[in-house]
Amino acid sequence: MSGKEQEYIKEVFKSNYIAPLGKHVNKFENSIKDYTGAKNALALSSGTSGLHLALRVLGITQGDVVLASSFTFMASVSPILYEKATPIFIDCDESWNLSPELLEKAIKIAPKKPKALILTHLYGQASKMKEICQICNENDIALIEDAAEALGGFYDNKALGTFGRLGIYSFNGNKIITTSGGGMLVGDEKLVEKARFYSTQAREPFLHYEHNEYGYNYRLSNILGAVGVAQMEVLEQRVLAKRAVFEIYERELSDVIEFMPELENSRGNRWLTTGVFKDKGTHLRVIDALAKQNIESRPLWKPMHLQPVFNGALSVIDGTSENLFERGICLASGSCLDKNTQQKIIQIVKDNI
Ligand SMILES: Cc1ncc(COP(=O)(O)O)c(C=O)c1O
Repeated sequence: MSGKEQEYIKEVFKSNYIAPLGKHVNKFENSIKDYTGAKNALALSSGTSGLHLALRVLGITQGDVVLASSFTFMASVSPILYEKATPIFIDCDESWNLSPELLEKAIKIAPKKPKALILTHLYGQASKMKEICQICNENDIALIEDAAEALGGFYDNKALGTFGRLGIYSFNGNKIITTSGGGMLVGDEKLVEKARFYSTQAREPFLHYEHNEYGYNYRLSNILGAVGVAQMEVLEQRVLAKRAVFEIYERELSDVIEFMPELENSRGNRWLTTGVFKDKGTHLRVIDALAKQNIESRPLWKPMHLQPVFNGALSVIDGTSENLFERGICLASGSCLDKNTQQKIIQIVKDNI
């Protein structure tokens, strides 16, 4: 926490207006617009609900084809299943993010014209936006950016999450800033306004409760909006702290770990410091040694095309994400990680190669 959260929460309680919505939710939406340059923003109860609404407002429905990064977290793609659409998973390239080359292949092998692409900016690092946006434009595919992990990241000085027709951020407890749980959808005015409508049970503008369509209860409470406003004030500090954590790991461990790269014309937020060891299995030995000292670390995300829930799904894969998954580690990367603890982690890694 930044220290300001309780002050803003107090204002909410003083107003006796804790929900639904309220002034602090509006302020939170405005602060996201100011920081990212997004024209429209909708505060939600999670990033996952943002992705679900994105598919809904784009009219994705049963049998529609949705392309998606394979190397990501389940939440990026489970909304495809909510809408009974058909995913096609696409591998990453040396950037660890979606391969534009394989994206073109996926469009060719799709059983019908794909309607959307859910693109994840993994671990807060930018994808190849120039190439990916061009391919989406040429093929009339709606780009949805999953920037859940990437708030504070930029490509060509433009905020990640603001390139596509829609983008989402997450404020889950483990993210670069948090409201304990929450999300934000940004993008085209019409689409965001339609999502606002669906996020509050698709209520038609009548005094009585009238519904031509069904919606969801996906909005954020005013209390959590207050937390979000305070968190946005320290976002840039958090990015710099995360990047400083990464730089120390990189300085000390680059001969034993190959770290996730950063595209030249981008600034990622280094949400997690991640990298791969030379040999398969080293990561598990290191994770175990760290756990014995009560220090958490994790393997990289298991790609979606390997998940049992997606057995039989189409994918365009060249082995890159599988190789990363078999050798990769997420190191402790908290923005308040102290230097002594970080040195201890570095030593444990070195001792277990
Ligand atoms: C890549 C990715 N997409 C989506 C989500 C979903 O966000 P939330 O937990 O706010 O629903 C997360 C994080 O949880 C994530 O890491």
